[in-house]
Amino acid sequence: MTTKELETVRIVREGDGIAWVSINRPEKRNAMSPQVHRDMSAAFDELELDAETKVVVIHGEGGVFSAGQDLKDSFRGLENDATERYLQEQKFWKWRWERLWNFPKVTIAMVDGWCVGGAFTHLIGCDFAITSEEAQYSLSEVNWGIIPGGMVSRAVVEAMGYRDGMYYCMTGERFHGRRAVELGLANFAVPAADLRPRTQEFAEMMMAKNQAVVNATKQVYRALRRGMDFDQSLDYMAAKFVQLKATDPQNGYRTGLSQFIDEKSYRPAHEPYPNPDQSQAGQSV
Ligand code: COA
Repeated sequence: MTTKELETVRIVREGDGIAWVSINRPEKRNAMSPQVHRDMSAAFDELELDAETKVVVIHGEGGVFSAGQDLKDSFRGLENDATERYLQEQKFWKWRWERLWNFPKVTIAMVDGWCVGGAFTHLIGCDFAITSEEAQYSLSEVNWGIIPGGMVSRAVVEAMGYRDGMYYCMTGERFHGRRAVELGLANFAVPAADLRPRTQEFAEMMMAKNQAVVNATKQVYRALRRGMDFDQSLDYMAAKFVQLKATDPQNGYRTGLSQFIDEKSYRPAHEPYPNPDQSQAGQSV
């Protein structure tokens, strides 16, 4: 196991392909100061190039995902310096949106404790979210005098339906992990005590898949959500299909066909994720 301590971020790798990346300011409920954003950017730079890392789990130390932007350091602290604020704000959202959105590895948000305001951006930026039932969520901005800005409202529009998104942005009302699943913010909710093992289990299930195929699937799905008409979508997906067939180191396409048609050794649709709570299975961000 290796642990790398940045000033405000911890990266733990246990040699199994999973990198556990945590915001490490529990005394501030993992509020995101400018230093957190710098450290997270550095962490993702490193993990992208780390061949051992297949899955990145983002969480918060001390059982709190994140209390959002640091109101003191990221808001008040930059209030009177427009240039610095602009430069910092680029960093604020780039790792949480642009970077996560395009990250060429599986990303999972593991949510416990509080998930507030700006934390919705990296929650939704991850491919998957697994939450404790007890976790508490709030788009709190409206309660203290700002809009859910940065990329928050944009992220909410991406993940939530119109009525629910409007409701929670405009009321700031708090909700729990199970409701987060209903709202499409998390894939499934588990008791807090099971959060870590279930996240580990899910990460292992994803790692067992062909990573080239998983990442191409993610690229396609995300690109389609950015908006293409039907013709563009067909063309884009056809090109991606050819690209994957040509570049997949495992040659998954031909291997899979052969296993199913010739060897009859494998039925792809008979391999579901063993989620005991099937009522929640399939709900995704
Ligand atoms: N920015 C800066 N500091 C924060 C913070 C934030 N977003 N959230 C919590 N903190 C700090 C508190 O100021 C306090 O610091 P102190 O000990 O130096 O006074 C410390 O973290 C603990 O906070 P506290 O409120 O005592 O913890 P709690 O467990 O009772 O409540 C929250 C946790 C998250 C519910 C509460 O702190 C809160 O509402 N924070 C604001 C969250 C928010 O609106 N974020 C949106 C930003 S866009």
